[in-house]
Amino acid sequence: MGRVQDKVVFITGAARGQGRAHALRLAQEGADIIAVDICEDIASNAYPLSRQTDLDETARLVEKLGRRIVARKADVRDAAALKAAVAEGVSELGKLDAVVANAGISPLGHQQSAQAFIDAVTVDFIGVVHAVEAALPYLPDGASIVATGSLAGLATATTDNPALGPGGTGYSFAKRNVASFVHDLAMVLSPRRIRVNAVHPGNCNTDMLNSDIMYRAFRPDLDNPTREDAMSSFPATSAMGNPYIEPEDVADSVLFLVSDESRWVTGMQHRVDSGGYVKKRPQQPAF
Ligand SMILES: NC(=O)c1ccc[n+]([C@@H]2O[C@H](COP(=O)([O-])OP(=O)(O)OC[C@H]3O[C@@H](n4cnc5c(N)ncnc54)[C@H](O)[C@@H]3O)[C@@H](O)[C@H]2O)c1
Repeated sequence: MGRVQDKVVFITGAARGQGRAHALRLAQEGADIIAVDICEDIASNAYPLSRQTDLDETARLVEKLGRRIVARKADVRDAAALKAAVAEGVSELGKLDAVVANAGISPLGHQQSAQAFIDAVTVDFIGVVHAVEAALPYLPDGASIVATGSLAGLATATTDNPALGPGGTGYSFAKRNVASFVHDLAMVLSPRRIRVNAVHPGNCNTDMLNSDIMYRAFRPDLDNPTREDAMSSFPATSAMGNPYIEPEDVADSVLFLVSDESRWVTGMQHRVDSGGYVKKRPQQPAF
């Protein structure tokens, strides 16, 4: 028996990066997956988002593990599209036990307009609310909701730096609100023993981090920094000296939070940040 044997888990942003790692780790432990991803770009986001081929590859890898998957192209800003994807997934897979609201963008850049702020908020925060909204009618008592926040939502002087533009401010705003949403929703759903927790990664080795716009954020002293240039600055957000964590490191925490091993764990801000939060020694609670 796997640690999430025969559970059905809805994952947003599942085409690549952390979302794909969550799908594979959960499938390894016996889960079936409902996966969505935008599979196209958002104009204010300087690096490319996923493509249909990425989502197809996640589906192939889940099936290779012997589990079922319903994968749909859907934008988390579109509540109706998420509801349709979840409805199709539940009709094919029979039920829904957990949600992993992971999809996100990081539309940094000092030349961006206010639209970048709106895009960060609507994808990184409202998209989480939409994912929960789509899943809630199907979730049984004892279900699990996991939302992906960020160290940037728990500590100041990260993406809220004005040099990173309106999208950076929007990213911090959105992730702070993910933390707050999880806290209050945990209280609301506790009578049904539905658990609501956040994972807050620090730097994670995905396309979001490995992008020119992120290299510039870490090396503002250079005009066109490369990944190699940024590598020396990445450890600034870690207390442990590592430049980043791997998607699989976050997936292990998501697995715990989806599994019944965490059945009495709710409202938790679970940091997977190499001590980035304690290094910054915030003086106030994060939400
Ligand atoms: N990479 C990091 O350093 C880091 C650090 C902290 C938090 N995070 C958070 O982790 C989560 C996963 O990001 P990642 O690191 O895997 O990056 P990623 O860019 O590789 O993956 C994000 C996925 O979300 C999808 N997506 C984006 N907008 C979408 C939308 N509107 N609707 C549906 N899907 C959408 C993308 O296509 C992509 O497949 C995000 O919420 C991100 O904010 C990342």
